[in-house]
Amino acid sequence: MRTKAMIGALAASATLIGLFGCGEENATAPETGAALELSKSERNALAAEVRQLTAGRGITALGRPPRVRPTLVRLGRALAFDKILSGNRDISCMTCHLAALATGDFRSLSIGQGATGLGATRVHPDGVFIPRNAPPLFNLFALKPLFWDGRIFQDGAGTFHTPAGAAITPAMHRVFELGTISILPLFPVTNREEMRAASGNELALISDDHPEQIWEALMKRLGKIREYRRMFELAYPGQRFEQMTFAHGSNAIGGFFVDQLAFNNSPWDQFLAGNDRAMTTVQLQGAKNFMSARCSICHNGPALTDNLFHNVALAQFGPGKGDGAGGRDDFGRERVTGIAAERYAFRTPALRNVELTAPYGHDGAFFDLRAFVDHYSESHLKLEKFLALQDPNVNLLEPLLRNTLLPTLNEVLATRDPLLTGVFFTPQVVDEVTEFMKALTDPAARNLQRIVPNRVPSGLPVDGARGGSGDEDD
Ligand code: HEC
Ligand code: HEC
Repeated sequence: MRTKAMIGALAASATLIGLFGCGEENATAPETGAALELSKSERNALAAEVRQLTAGRGITALGRPPRVRPTLVRLGRALAFDKILSGNRDISCMTCHLAALATGDFRSLSIGQGATGLGATRVHPDGVFIPRNAPPLFNLFALKPLFWDGRIFQDGAGTFHTPAGAAITPAMHRVFELGTISILPLFPVTNREEMRAASGNELALISDDHPEQIWEALMKRLGKIREYRRMFELAYPGQRFEQMTFAHGSNAIGGFFVDQLAFNNSPWDQFLAGNDRAMTTVQLQGAKNFMSARCSICHNGPALTDNLFHNVALAQFGPGKGDGAGGRDDFGRERVTGIAAERYAFRTPALRNVELTAPYGHDGAFFDLRAFVDHYSESHLKLEKFLALQDPNVNLLEPLLRNTLLPTLNEVLATRDPLLTGVFFTPQVVDEVTEFMKALTDPAARNLQRIVPNRVPSGLPVDGARGGSGDEDD
């Protein structure tokens, strides 16, 4: 999979830039006063303006999630941290969604089962990467489609759409209490690179076409542990463990995320609640830019996502999803809808706590938040420089990944979202918007050690636990 990069082909694509013009004539950067020391009345006026723009974009306060019964949360926490859900019992959900790393892994692309170490120091003996970046698990109750390509979602009528189709029976469907996030945990356990492995255990022997047999085998494993049987029966009063399926486990993991990883107390949230002094003047100015530039056309609604898919011109690298001539490309949303115009489109991420969740984008192309914001300014030129290894950010990618950059400049720009055409920002605007991004951090998200259990019912080591096998930096 780790073939040589085809950077040479890039030279040929350099001519494309002419098509896009320099963008400065129809710049979208709003006017910004050079002086940020505003008088009291100027500051009040700025706050009022931000409020007005915000309302115009449908950006309202993010509510609290639905209440989840504590017995369900307890079961979900145990399952999320328990390596028993992986084929060879060597990786849990939270190995890639580390509490110490804001529920990510601080890697561009994750590394799954069969590997050692955590976070930045995790290594796989065969250099195997997961094709995409591990997104944070914050406020998942507010996200309608899940995964970068939205391949799992619940429609307005309440019907779930997933790649597993009829393998998820109507009886299982009735178990999901919290929308899309209740059904998602059914999937990582079936993935061989992430959790199940190609060999060495009874789950690995099951054909990829029969996910229901994988879920059954997991329940068999869990049923051998008395503590789990009790936890399932407490979480679902009146039901016997024997009558339950892994849908019950999946729903519980969703309940744990929804209950423990809801964050809506950032300075921005306090501002929305009426406190004009919650954000700094620079952050207010950044918020104004965010609302009046095009950011909030896509990052809108209470969670700052339109729950839709766009191509914002990021470089592609890593093993890919089997797309394109060499199979190393990732067509994103097109993989789900089959619509060619949606090639390279990915779900607009929710932005709360974004300061804590580097690297950014579906393949973690940027480690620096300011650089990601800056990427929107003349993104066609930025992408070209990135692919030509002339962008300092590309040097932050680990060599194994940098060597797999796909020279697909023309292809990516062909479906780039038209909203990005003509976008140009001054460095000052980029600074201000970046400061606004930091106003989205809920202080309670800075330390998540409280969600990590000291032990799990299987007795297997808990990654990230104090005194456990965790070896990541805290
Ligand atoms: C090997 C690392 C790894 C493991 C193990 C893992 N994940 Fe993930 N997770 C990822 C990656 C990578 C993605 C993005 C995949 C995509 O979008 O195609 C992801 C996406 C998600 C999402 C979607 C979030 C969003 O914003 O759409 C959720 C929820 C999630 N994982 C929960 C889990 C649960 C629950 C488990 C255990 C059953 C788990 N993960 C195991 C790496 C991992
Ligand atoms: C055309 C819609 C659109 C516009 C306009 C837009 N974004 Fe995005 N944003 C996205 C999508 C889609 C992604 C994910 C792209 C990917 O991974 O390929 C994203 C990713 C991000 C990320 C990375 C988040 C993460 O968790 O990885 C940040 C930060 C961000 N946008 C901020 C902004 C800012 C600031 C602006 C305005 C300058 C802006 N966006 C304008 C759609 C948009």
